[in-house]
Amino acid sequence: MIPMTAKLFTPARIGPYTLSHRVVMAPLTRSRSQQPGDIPGDLMLEYYAQRASDGGLIISEATPISITARGWFGAPGLYSDEQVDGWKRITAAVHAKGGRMFSQLWHTGRSSHFEMTGGPEPVSASVNPGYWQDKSNVVSTPSGWTRPSPHRALDTSEIPGIVEDYRLAAARAREAGFDGVELHGGNGYLPDQFLQDGSNRRTDEYGGSIENRSRFLLDVVGAMVSVWGGDRVAVRLAPSGSWNGMSDSDPRALFGYVAGQLNRFGLAYLHLIEPRVKGNIVIAEGQGPVAAHELRKIFTGTLVAAGGFEPDTAEAVVESGDADLVAFGRHFIANPDLPVRIKQGLPLNRYDRDTFYTFDARGYTDYPFYSPTA
Ligand SMILES: Cc1cc2nc3c(=O)[nH]c(=O)nc-3n(C[C@H](O)[C@H](O)[C@H](O)COP(=O)(O)O)c2cc1C
Repeated sequence: MIPMTAKLFTPARIGPYTLSHRVVMAPLTRSRSQQPGDIPGDLMLEYYAQRASDGGLIISEATPISITARGWFGAPGLYSDEQVDGWKRITAAVHAKGGRMFSQLWHTGRSSHFEMTGGPEPVSASVNPGYWQDKSNVVSTPSGWTRPSPHRALDTSEIPGIVEDYRLAAARAREAGFDGVELHGGNGYLPDQFLQDGSNRRTDEYGGSIENRSRFLLDVVGAMVSVWGGDRVAVRLAPSGSWNGMSDSDPRALFGYVAGQLNRFGLAYLHLIEPRVKGNIVIAEGQGPVAAHELRKIFTGTLVAAGGFEPDTAEAVVESGDADLVAFGRHFIANPDLPVRIKQGLPLNRYDRDTFYTFDARGYTDYPFYSPTA
């Protein structure tokens, strides 16, 4: 019998690496770092080691680049020596199973709270009171889920300092043994707040035209490339993404421009979240992979598609040529052995949404590996 996922299990290149399959673990915030200090500990080590596969790629959960970049309680950081030591054990475990791992660098911007930033007001491209007033926008803090704190706009003179924080975190990712770094440029976090004109009303060189709104993200990519070279840096975007209070008046022009500009870095890959997914919920059941389809025509490098894929639709998007690899989020949460299950056509465990962001092993490291007798 010819497997229905044949193309997913052919080799693919990302930068200098050759992967043996195209089933990527998507970045997944799971809030299980060791406290205090947001340190990747034993529980996280077990979780990532379970999900590593020979020739497979794991993208880490979003990882704050500094204390003031934090916005989600329990997310592991990448700015202290203890955090780097914690990540070292994880990347070593992934490598021991023949896998590769990229670190996803995160600045939450306005999607934060003063309990998370260590006191200061969260920062953004512009001030949008509607964001913190909207009941649907919530952040996770040591005191529980709450409304984001009021934020302020970054002064132009502060922007190089934030770009430098990304550079430092990229350097720490090298120290920690990662194979590369991915910029979290989607889901309404700081780079996305600069990109989309619903959140960027600036009048300096970081606002206004599409070129200006893209400048922050491109500055950050430049800083990451200065540490790693272009071929071990990746960017994640959510074109037309509306989660986290995002909107843009002309997303097709904006994201087309960004994808074109990214060509000049020779990136490891561009990672696109399909707009049929809003954060972690599918909102447009049945919609095809439109982001990958559109931007494939513009971006000339390796493309990773994500958002609402099943094994058969993942095979189809790779087969059609619209993407080279497919990242799975929720299925990887529930199936530590997802690549093997897809390859062999085995049934998938169901994910439990109630334990996505809890703090212990339940719903984290206790999903079973496939067993024919279970
Ligand atoms: C629990 C959970 C946490 C997530 N955390 C992140 C994250 O840290 N960074 C990110 O870029 N996307 C994050 N996402 C989005 C996923 O990477 C992915 O885009 C989304 O789940 C859609 O893919 P799926 O349909 O395969 O689950 C998260 C999704 C879920 C369900």
